[in-house]
Amino acid sequence: MNTSIVGTGVAVPPNVVTNQDLVKIMDTTDEWIRSRTGVRSRRFVDAGTGTSELAAEAALAALADAKLDALSVDAVVCATMTPDRQTPGIAGALAHLVGLSNAVVFDVRQQCAGFLFALDIADMLIATERAATVLVVGAEVHAGYLPWGDAWEIVLGQSTREPSAEERAVATRYRAWSVLFGDGAGAMVLQRGAVHDTAASSGILGSVLHTDGAHANLIEVPGLGSLQRPYADAAQISAGLQHPTMNGSALYRMAVECMPEAVRQVVAKVGLGLADLDLVVAHQANDRILEGVRKRLDVDDAIVPSNIGNWGNTTAATLPILYHELCQTGRVEAGSLVAFTCFGAGAHWGALLYREP
Ligand SMILES: CC(C)(COP(=O)(O)OP(=O)(O)OC[C@H]1O[C@@H](n2cnc3c(N)ncnc32)[C@H](O)[C@@H]1OP(=O)(O)O)[C@@H](O)C(=O)NCCC(=O)NCCS
Repeated sequence: MNTSIVGTGVAVPPNVVTNQDLVKIMDTTDEWIRSRTGVRSRRFVDAGTGTSELAAEAALAALADAKLDALSVDAVVCATMTPDRQTPGIAGALAHLVGLSNAVVFDVRQQCAGFLFALDIADMLIATERAATVLVVGAEVHAGYLPWGDAWEIVLGQSTREPSAEERAVATRYRAWSVLFGDGAGAMVLQRGAVHDTAASSGILGSVLHTDGAHANLIEVPGLGSLQRPYADAAQISAGLQHPTMNGSALYRMAVECMPEAVRQVVAKVGLGLADLDLVVAHQANDRILEGVRKRLDVDDAIVPSNIGNWGNTTAATLPILYHELCQTGRVEAGSLVAFTCFGAGAHWGALLYREP
């Protein structure tokens, strides 16, 4: 039997930030953000909340949904590009918070494609009988990346003061990427399909994963790493090297080609056609990218759903949050054929085909 998703859960933080809140601190408009990206609002954690806490909340919700105890988890694959601290990753903290004492746990670093790679690794662990129950988590706290300094209090509605000219200039300098992101976490519990599920064609049917490191600099954090000596210093901070740099149009062009191509590849690999797809759960980076994916796959809007309006781009958390919502709203039915697809910094991309048992 193939690997099946037996539980899903999400965690989204309490602070809602609308486009209008961003207008208070930078030169932008609700109309620009909505029409260019589809984002209407995003969520952020309170200062002091780390990614592992959000990850743990989503993991506990997924375990509850699967009606499983933490001790029954054999392995955890955790995807994040925003760990609590540079070293170590968050898998250990997550395991500690959730009580995953019997699990082998590790982090993967594939950014927006992280959850897809984590799902595939979980499937490999189950297929090779190294694990019977695997928890896959995607979690991000982007708030720390955002260059809003003391102006956070304005964004969060904790102050009605006007931003200083310098605060506005800095927030405006980074507006192209900062309006895109939000915090969140999602998790899935995976197990080998039940013995009574005799449909050999359900569960995870296949995957294709790709990486082209030649494009690693399309979106990156240029400072604070082993290329620097020392790896962190004041000169890097004053040059802004702790903030992401992004070639938005090049990313857009790659994402819009690579995701549909990966979906075509995985569907062909398992001997099915695009017309068999009920859902394409695609990475939520920009509504216009989703429009391009629909067009290139020649499918109806409803086949490639979008939830970016509410959450922004939550990087490794986008696939499990969207899939959880689709399950909750009855969009995933027994027998539904679902293609998960992502494109992320690295560049990493791919697709995974799943049939709901
Ligand atoms: C980032 C993105 C929304 C920018 O949209 P775009 O249409 O390419 O916009 P451009 O970067 O060409 O900028 C167009 C203009 O809008 C301005 N602009 C950028 N961000 C703005 C904002 N938040 N508000 C208002 N204006 C903005 C630019 O300064 C530019 O002005 P100019 O023409 O006077 O120079 C789009 O490129 C995108 O989503 N790319 C993919 C990003 C992605 O997938 N990231 C995650 C990867 S895993």
